[in-house]
Amino acid sequence: MKSDENIRLDALRAIRVEFGFVKAALKRLSTLHASAPRPREGHVFTIVGESRSGKTTILDLHEEKFASPGPRPRRVARLTLLSKCNERTLAASVLEAMGDPAASTNSRVQSLTRIPMVSKTMGVEMIIIDEAQHLVNRRNKEINYDAADAIKVLADLVGIPIVLAGTEDLDRLIAANLQLEGRLRGRIAIAPFDVSSDDSFKELRCFLRYYDLEMPFPMTGGLHEPHLARAIHSATSGLIGLITRLLQRSGELAIDDGRPFIDLYHLGCAWEELTASSAYGRSLSNPFDRLREPKREEKPQRSD
Ligand SMILES: Nc1ncnc2c1ncn2[C@@H]1O[C@H](COP(=O)(O)OP(=O)(O)OP(=O)(O)O)[C@@H](O)[C@H]1O
Ligand SMILES: [Mg+2]
Repeated sequence: MKSDENIRLDALRAIRVEFGFVKAALKRLSTLHASAPRPREGHVFTIVGESRSGKTTILDLHEEKFASPGPRPRRVARLTLLSKCNERTLAASVLEAMGDPAASTNSRVQSLTRIPMVSKTMGVEMIIIDEAQHLVNRRNKEINYDAADAIKVLADLVGIPIVLAGTEDLDRLIAANLQLEGRLRGRIAIAPFDVSSDDSFKELRCFLRYYDLEMPFPMTGGLHEPHLARAIHSATSGLIGLITRLLQRSGELAIDDGRPFIDLYHLGCAWEELTASSAYGRSLSNPFDRLREPKREEKPQRSD
């Protein structure tokens, strides 16, 4: 049996918040999902944002909304693109994502032309391809035109929406392939929170408020308070993935500590620990230190 502490740690790691830009993106995906299939008229949609900006989480939330209990219908076929991708491997991954039993056992059927039939049989309404920037070589920026072309052919064959998610290289891929570009029906850009914009700062505070409420503690930590929200932003450059990692680690420390909420001490310690990874910008001084009273153990002792 799991201890109370482990249950709380699991709950902490499972937090996902639907708010602001996440809600807006989910709404657009739902509208796209509801559009009628138009065979021979491919439509492609992109979600672009830097690493840890929250793209995959949005796709997860969308997929969960359309999940069905049995293997059929498989309303969303979801795959992650590998860098070494050609027409055949793309077809194989799409068929597998659609739940085609033959594709996994018989490599001869792994062809794009089989996909429309499988798509219909399995009740697929949308194809989601994550990490689509893998079609651009990270080092020399060379574009995998064959695979990009295969996505275009796939879009025309199925007529259902194809969502491509990836980092900014995905924009380059679309721009460099006129035929793919011609099928682009929309794009969502996901940016880190920006404290110089009132709207974005409001959205950050809203996210922190919801996150705080979801944390497995009897009391909230006031994370959305402006001074704390600003410190969290400066500690993480506003990237949602870095914010959640900081909050998770702080939460773990607070649970370990037996405290009823996370405080500046936990945030500061978590930040110190995580700055070992360059993603957090090691040159900064600890943004939580200046908000903090003297450390608990440094607090003046009462002399009786
Ligand atoms: N709405 C959200 N609520 C809670 N946590 C979130 C949310 N969005 C993102 N996160 C957290 O941020 C981290 C990064 O998010 P995600 O993996 O979705 O980013 P990504 O843009 O797909 O990154 P990459 O390009 O590196 O794959 C994840 O651990 C995720 O749990
Ligand atoms: Mg991702």
